[in-house]
Amino acid sequence: MTAVIAGAAFYEVVLAVHIMAVVVAFGVTFAYPIMFALTAKHEPRSLPLMHRVATAIDRMLVNGGLVVVLAAGAYLASKGHSWSEFFVQWGLGAVLVIGALVGAVMIPTGKRARALAERDLEASGDGEIVFSAEYQAVVRRLQAVGSLLSGLVLLTILFMAIQP
Ligand code: HEM
Repeated sequence: MTAVIAGAAFYEVVLAVHIMAVVVAFGVTFAYPIMFALTAKHEPRSLPLMHRVATAIDRMLVNGGLVVVLAAGAYLASKGHSWSEFFVQWGLGAVLVIGALVGAVMIPTGKRARALAERDLEASGDGEIVFSAEYQAVVRRLQAVGSLLSGLVLLTILFMAIQP
C-alpha cells in the first residue's frame, strides 16, 4: 500500500484530497431530510437538538470542507492550467454560492428554527405538540435552500467528472 501511495504523483494525491473534502463536506447533508422526517414523526421533542446538530455540521464540516475543496481545487487548476475551463469557473461559482447560502441562510435559519421549536414545545407543555405556522415556514425555507444546495453539489460533481 505504501508503494502505491509513494508511486502516485502529488497531483493525484491532491485530487484525492479534493474528492475526500467533497465527501466530508456534503455527504451527511444528503441525510438531513431522513433525519428530520424521522425525528418529526417519532421524537418531535428532539427537533431542537436536531437543528442544533445540523447547524453545527453546517458550520464545521460544510464550511470547513469547502475551504479544503477550494484550496485543493485551486492547486489542481493551477497545475493543470485549467483556470479558464468551464468546469473550474463553475466550481468557483458553486463554492461561492454554497458558502454564501450556508453562512447567510442555513446557519441563521437553523438557529431560528431551533429557537421556534423550543418555544412551541414549551407552549405545548405535556399536552399535544403543536408546531406554529412560523416554525413550519422556517423549516420549509431550510428544506428549499437545502435541496437547492444538494442539487448544486450533484451538478458540480457531474461537471467535474465529465470535463474533457
Ligand atoms: C462544490 C464544489 C466542487 C465539487 C463538488 C468538486 C468535485 C470534484 C470531483 C468529484 C472531481 C473529480 C472528477 C474526476 O476526477 O473525474 C473534481 C475534479 C477537479 N476539480 Fe473540483 N469540485 C468542486 C470545486 C472545485 C473548484 C472550486 C475548483 C478550482 C478552483 C476545482 C477544480 C477541479 C479540477 C481542476 C479537477 C480535475 C482534476 C483532474 O481530473 O485532473 N473544483 N472536482
